[in-house]
Amino acid sequence: MANSAFQEIISGISHFAATAQDLASLQEFSVSLIAERLPYYNWVGFYMLDPDDDGVLILGPFRGASTEHIRIPVTEGICGAAVAQGETIIVEDVSSDPRYLSCSIETKSEIVVPIHANGSIVGEIDIDSHLLNAFGQEDRSFLEECAAVIGRFIEEKDKSALQTASAK
Ligand code: SME
Repeated sequence: MANSAFQEIISGISHFAATAQDLASLQEFSVSLIAERLPYYNWVGFYMLDPDDDGVLILGPFRGASTEHIRIPVTEGICGAAVAQGETIIVEDVSSDPRYLSCSIETKSEIVVPIHANGSIVGEIDIDSHLLNAFGQEDRSFLEECAAVIGRFIEEKDKSALQTASAK
């Protein structure tokens, strides 16, 4: 990754994850740092699969304009498509993608990166930009690394919850 901001953000998130008390605080820290350091990342947020219904994504911590898309079925939107396809999706121009669910009229491009934990997708990081074609391979590598840190945190927390349960 050539962009040093990317490296600094990964390092900040990894450092925070080492002592974070829970997933929500790690997500809050991550969206805040990413949105603050990368001006073309105009909306930065998490959608996590509903633990009671893995056909629906639920809005998590975010920075940017408020959105009406609090719950997104995995059959809808770019967000749903990233879960259904199981891979990162980059949309250069949202106005020409029929899957796109509008959050803000200012949004021109979007990237959605799945988060994996324990072998399955548990959620995703969603970024919108007011610039056309804002996201390239470096953004993708950067965000996939962020998603990997979050995924590892979830796995470690799951493991310690299991150990606590079996010790009882
Ligand atoms: N654009 C997304 C919906 C979420 S908002 O961008 C915050 C989509 O098409 O799934």
